[in-house]
Amino acid sequence: MKLKDVLNSSEIIITAKCFFGFEETLAEELKELGFNDLIILNRAVRFKGTWKDVYFLNLHCRCAISILVEISQFVIRSEKDLYDACAKIDWSLIFDTKKSFAIKGAIFSEIFKNTHYPFLLVKDAIVDSFRDKGIERPNVDIKKPQVVFDLYVNDHQVTLSLNTSGLPLFQRGYRQSTGEAPLNEVVAACLIRLSKWDKKTDFIDPFCGSGTLLIEAALYASGIPSNIERQHYAFKNLKNYQPTLWQEIFDSATRIVRELPCKITGGDNSDEMVLKAKRNLRTFSFNRLVTIHSRDFKEFHSETPAFIITNPPYGERLTAEIEVLYSEMGTWLKHTMTGSEAWVISSTQEGLNSIGLKPEKKHKVFNGDLECSFRQFKTFSGSKNENYKTS
Ligand SMILES: C[S@@+](CC[C@H](N)C(=O)[O-])C[C@H]1O[C@@H](n2cnc3c(N)ncnc32)[C@H](O)[C@@H]1O
Repeated sequence: MKLKDVLNSSEIIITAKCFFGFEETLAEELKELGFNDLIILNRAVRFKGTWKDVYFLNLHCRCAISILVEISQFVIRSEKDLYDACAKIDWSLIFDTKKSFAIKGAIFSEIFKNTHYPFLLVKDAIVDSFRDKGIERPNVDIKKPQVVFDLYVNDHQVTLSLNTSGLPLFQRGYRQSTGEAPLNEVVAACLIRLSKWDKKTDFIDPFCGSGTLLIEAALYASGIPSNIERQHYAFKNLKNYQPTLWQEIFDSATRIVRELPCKITGGDNSDEMVLKAKRNLRTFSFNRLVTIHSRDFKEFHSETPAFIITNPPYGERLTAEIEVLYSEMGTWLKHTMTGSEAWVISSTQEGLNSIGLKPEKKHKVFNGDLECSFRQFKTFSGSKNENYKTS
C-alpha cells in the first residue's frame, strides 16, 4: 500500500503491542472490542482496521502498550538498503518540521553490527528527505517526541510503522504519586483480565500501595476507559489528524459513574501509601466508591466471598521476613477469607511457596524487568482448606 493510501485509507494494518505473556489477554480484549481476524505475534497482535479504530483503541484498549499503523514493509540485504528504502518515503506527508520525532523498535538481524545504527540510518533518511525538498529539518527528541516511528527488523525483513500512541499507554495520566515498587498500569489491567474477575464479586487489594490495581479494577468495572485522563497521543501530531473524529470518540466514552457493580476495597499498612492511593483516585468520579484503609492485611474480613488480586512486597526484605509474611497471608486466606479467590503476583519463589496453598493456576509474567509468577489460590469454607496444604 502506498503511504498516501495508508494515511487516508479506510483499511490499514494495525499492530497492538503488549508485554510478554499477555498476547492472548490482549487478543481477548480486542475481540470484545469488536476486532476479528487477529494474528497473534510475539508481544503483539495484528489486525486490519481504520484510523477511527486507531483513535478508539488508544483510548479504550487497557492491555496494549502502543497502537502501531504499518507504513511500509520491505526486504534489505545491507545497511545501505535500509537507508535507501527509507529515503524514498515522503515523510513530509506524515508530519511537519515543527514536530519533534524519534524512532524506537527492535532489531533482530545480523546485517547490523550495532543495534543502535539502524535507528540512526532511519533518522538520517528522514532528515535528508526533508532537506532534499528544501524544507527545514525536524528535530529529534528521544524523551518526549511528538511523532514516533517504530522500526522492526527481523533478519532481512523490515517493518516500519507509525507509533500512534507515542508515549506508552501505561502512562495513563492518573498516577501522580507512587511508592518504591508500583505495578505497571497496563500489567495491572492485564492481570485483572487474566484473572477472569466477573466485575460483580467484591474486589480487595490488601497491599494496594499507590492503588494501581484498585483504580484499574474500578475503571474496568465501570466501563470508563483506562486512558480517560491521558492527554498525549502521538496521532494528534500527524498531518492526517482528524480532531472532530477524536472528539466524537472521546465524548462518547463513559466518564462519570454514580455507582460500581461491587465493593472495591484496598489497604496498606503504610499511611503514606494510603494517602498516595487516595490522591491518585481523586481524579475519578468513583473516588468515594472505592474504600482504602490504613491497616495490616490481616485485619481484612469479608462477610461474602471476595475476589483478591494483590501485589505484596517481594524484594526489599530479608528472605526470612518475606517467608513469614507470605505464610501469614496463607493463614489469613485459609481462616479469614474462606470461600474467596485470591491472585498473587510476586517474584519471590520462597514467598509464594510459603503461602502453603496449592495454586490452581500459574502464569509467568513480568513486572518491569522482574520475572514474576501470577498465581491463583482458592479457599473453601471450613476444614476443607486443610486438604489444600502443600509442602
Ligand atoms: C509491591 S507494593 C504494592 C504496589 C502497588 N501494587 C502499586 O501499584 O503501587 C507492596 C505494598 O505492601 C505494603 N505492605 C507491606 N506489608 C504490609 C502488611 N503487612 N499489610 C498491608 N500492607 C503491607 C507496602 O507498604 C507496599 O505499599
